[in-house]
Amino acid sequence: MLLQLKHISRAYGKKESETYQVVLNDISLDIEKGQSIAVTGPSGSGKTTLLNLAGSLDKPDQGQVLYLDQDITRLTGRELEQFRNKAVGFVFQQHHLLPQFTLLENVLLPTLPNRNAGGAGDRAEELIKRTGLWDHRDKKPRELSGGESQRAAVVRALINNPAMLLADEPTGSLDYENSNQLFDMLLEFNRTDEVALVVVTHSPELARRMDTIYRLKSGKLDMITE
Ligand SMILES: Nc1ncnc2c1ncn2[C@@H]1O[C@H](COP(=O)(O)OP(=O)(O)OP(=O)(O)O)[C@@H](O)[C@H]1O
Ligand SMILES: [Mg+2]
Repeated sequence: MLLQLKHISRAYGKKESETYQVVLNDISLDIEKGQSIAVTGPSGSGKTTLLNLAGSLDKPDQGQVLYLDQDITRLTGRELEQFRNKAVGFVFQQHHLLPQFTLLENVLLPTLPNRNAGGAGDRAEELIKRTGLWDHRDKKPRELSGGESQRAAVVRALINNPAMLLADEPTGSLDYENSNQLFDMLLEFNRTDEVALVVVTHSPELARRMDTIYRLKSGKLDMITE
């Protein structure tokens, strides 16, 4: 198993205060190598909270997050940074490309901490070509369309060859056609590079393109079987 969330609970606010809110209540989720997962659920149900826990951007109040059997909630400092930088790729609703850098430079940014490893330039070229963005490599983000920017954000997330990609409503700001194209691309990398996908989406149609669909509601996570 690649990643296991085991009996995870997460609440916000102080226990006895009015704002105390249990968002995730004893949730477990197994993610296998190369699996594709959609996470659906109403706004405020805790989808982003769940993804943040899976990617070690946040820690649970209770439970374990195991990456290749290692509890990542216990990692600190450098180990934690390395895990985030190498094992996981993140994609968000907005592309978060840095405006002062070109597409190619943006894609290469996550490789800077391990620049001695080499090969980053070749991988960047390969990925940018595979996604049809090569002709746009020297453009700044303001010169790219929304769809191009978001595809570049996916390439940046994949540049360190992560075992899993966590995407939080990656098509939230895209139209129908660009949304489908982005999912085509995610599933293509899932198939060829065996990167596990966990994608939050509000679209039932897009969710159905994943191997497994989960729905988060009232603090619980259920697998949807159609
Ligand atoms: N840092 C925080 N402090 C306090 N409450 C928070 C915090 N982050 C999230 N929440 C609350 O936890 C609940 C779940 O939030 P979360 O962002 O995980 O939901 P979501 O399912 O991603 O929603 P959406 O579909 O709107 O993105 C919400 O009610 C939110 O207000
Ligand atoms: Mg969210």
